[in-house]
Amino acid sequence: MAQPTLLLGQTLAFARDPFRGDPAEAAQHERRGAVLIEDGRIAAVGPADRLRTAHPQAGVVDHGDGLILPGFVDAHAHYPQTAIIASWGKRLIDWLNSYTFPEETRFSDPAYARTIAARYFDLTLAHGTTTVASYCTSHPESVEAYFAEADARGLRALGGKTCMDRNAPAGLTDTPRRAYDESKAALARWHGRGRLSYVITPRFSPTSTPAQLEALGALWAEHPDCLMQTHLSEQTDECLWVAELFPEASDYLDTYERFGLLGPNGLYGHAIHLTPREIDRLAEVGAALVHCPTSNTFIGSGLFDMEGLKGRGIRVGLATDTGGGSSFSMLRTMAAAYEVAQLRHRALHPAELLWLATAGSAAALGLGDRIGTLRPGIEADLVVLDLGSTPAIAQRAERAEDIWEAVFPTIMMGDDRAVVATYVAGRMVEARTDRP
Ligand code: GUN
Ligand code: ZN
Repeated sequence: MAQPTLLLGQTLAFARDPFRGDPAEAAQHERRGAVLIEDGRIAAVGPADRLRTAHPQAGVVDHGDGLILPGFVDAHAHYPQTAIIASWGKRLIDWLNSYTFPEETRFSDPAYARTIAARYFDLTLAHGTTTVASYCTSHPESVEAYFAEADARGLRALGGKTCMDRNAPAGLTDTPRRAYDESKAALARWHGRGRLSYVITPRFSPTSTPAQLEALGALWAEHPDCLMQTHLSEQTDECLWVAELFPEASDYLDTYERFGLLGPNGLYGHAIHLTPREIDRLAEVGAALVHCPTSNTFIGSGLFDMEGLKGRGIRVGLATDTGGGSSFSMLRTMAAAYEVAQLRHRALHPAELLWLATAGSAAALGLGDRIGTLRPGIEADLVVLDLGSTPAIAQRAERAEDIWEAVFPTIMMGDDRAVVATYVAGRMVEARTDRP
């Protein structure tokens, strides 16, 4: 057995969902805490003195005042959009046609796919994100590149071939048969290999014919343990288009449900313009939603109803939605979630924001027993944050009277400069040399 490692720093360990009960009481904070890592997993969390005495044989990495958290979990991203992030001036459908589809067409080239997948994981790890659920493109080469690069880094990662057979350029479309066959082949190759999971991925109803949705519903029925990810009710123009394309469906969600694409392992991105029936149905089946706040403001989509949807007991994850989202940083994403909720007259507590970016996203991905929390047995994917990473943040944090006030300036103003170190399965993969 490898020598255990003891990380020293502040620790914040959630015992429950902070949306249920007093958020400030949902986590245990240790000012001088420690995380013991053995064989890539967390073996113990507690006060530094106690763990040092109990484990004198452990190698010690002292992060000083750094805050040790579970690595961030980005529950919805498009790695192929890395190079077109921050493209100006369009709303959803025009943005897809002007920027996204032309870029995604390039991923038939395996070398290009590999270059961007490597760049994407370098960026996410530098931002403290240790797990992502990403859409690939419709090309099997893009799926291969994504999983190969994730595997080479030892990452827990989820993804799938983005299926489209209409309303997209010829270089990106497949057919119902090819969507089924290529998804099935990639699933057989990657699902459950190392720390990887395949996700069945119809892009969204406007780019799939009923026949393609049906084929993917059939594939999901054969592999019900897989997640299925797609987009739902992101922008009002899109919702009107869906109503035109599927006149027989009762609403947007029904365009998935009627083809077997609604279930407890379903992951629905955005979910802003929902009808009461759709909310009832999502709650009833136990599906998960993913909030993508920087994307929702950047593309001008609308304001996600965190309070209402969490209040219905629906699982909600948090995500960048790169490159519709305007940042790779889950800190920037938490800040945007705070601002979006404020516009709906709800101030999200720092505990709620941090939980959404870690345990909440992990639970949305069905991985709550593996990642997202500082608890014995959980995989040691961690991020260490400097709570004074810029002069502006440091001068505000100095006034803090508790951990929540100390971390909130980093949530609101922080980015990759706040990331001191990132650990994947107990191994430090990213470190700033100028910080402890
Ligand atoms: N809806 C369908 N495809 C996409 C995409 O790539 N990004 C976003 N934000 N919404 C979508
Ligand atoms: Zn998306």
